[in-house]
Amino acid sequence: MTTDANLVDGNERVLGSTDVRVGAVSFGCWRFTGTDEAGDAALIEHALDLGMNLVDTADVYGLDWGGSGFGANETALGDVLRRHPSLRDRMVLATKVGIVPGVPYVSDPAYLVTATEASLRRLGTDYVDLLQIHRPDPFTHPATVAEALARLVERGLVRAVGVSNHSPSQVRALSTHLALHRMSLTTNQPELSALRLNALRDGTLDMCMELGITPLAWSPLSGGRLATGHNVPKALNATLRRLGAREGVSPAVIAVAFVLAHPARIVAVVGSQNPQRLTELAAATNVHLDRVDVYAIIQASDGTPLP
Ligand SMILES: NC(=O)c1ccc[n+]([C@@H]2O[C@H](COP(=O)([O-])OP(=O)(O)OC[C@H]3O[C@@H](n4cnc5c(N)ncnc54)[C@H](OP(=O)(O)O)[C@@H]3O)[C@@H](O)[C@H]2O)c1
Repeated sequence: MTTDANLVDGNERVLGSTDVRVGAVSFGCWRFTGTDEAGDAALIEHALDLGMNLVDTADVYGLDWGGSGFGANETALGDVLRRHPSLRDRMVLATKVGIVPGVPYVSDPAYLVTATEASLRRLGTDYVDLLQIHRPDPFTHPATVAEALARLVERGLVRAVGVSNHSPSQVRALSTHLALHRMSLTTNQPELSALRLNALRDGTLDMCMELGITPLAWSPLSGGRLATGHNVPKALNATLRRLGAREGVSPAVIAVAFVLAHPARIVAVVGSQNPQRLTELAAATNVHLDRVDVYAIIQASDGTPLP
């Protein structure tokens, strides 16, 4: 066995047990403010042209990053889709519900249905390809969450269902109840980057591989820190720089490639709103990282050698 085999899988991913294919790098809308009519459409089109066809938003996006409040991000994306309907057909549109400012988490079944209907109105679309429960609400029984999700799928408002920030046991509990409706979870969306390795170690990715769930990694650049190097351990910056120099790419591209190297066939949800940077990050699919490289990144991130 060789240790220099390339672990980075830049091929398209099939989402869960569906036949929906998405790029290994996808486009996150959290920082999409919708302030420039022509630029907004061009940005979305550029992401799609790069193969970033999974477009990830949430009803709560818009409370920060220049948005005007709850729902603003979906409205901005919906405005682009209303003006350029052909873009809708090219994207796998994913949104999230379940965060309610001031509560903060609600997965009550009636609320999930109302919130999804409101998201569809803002997005100006009849259905979303993927509806995700944004954060777990431990005060709702997973049987009733499954029931609400099944109702939304039956009504054709939602094609597939997923979760975000759910622990392995929360994923298992909801999966068990969804199975009673002949449904399965398609995705789980944890934070994962060279700086945030929890999902690699807490069973999140193992559970995805066990159940055939596609992981969507949020903030693969740790919100930009892995690109700028700010507040990143020196050893990690040095390792990303060294590998970047070897591969002829920036440290940010190495950070995205690191996420694509895991065998759970993760989709990296990048958040740049800059077309040139999106082009740069898309090149992560062509980077070569072997076992020695990924363990060098992990040990530099940990600041200690692995046992
Ligand atoms: N499920 C959840 O709870 C959750 C939480 C957070 C995020 N998300 C999802 O994950 C997506 C990505 O999150 P994220 O935006 O934090 O992702 P990220 O890709 O880790 O960070 C994006 C940030 O990095 C900056 N950046 C990228 N390349 C750079 C470079 N070379 N130099 C300087 N800055 C650079 C971007 O600025 P520019 O725009 O200027 O390039 C942007 O501000 C979100 O859009 C959302 O869909 C989900």
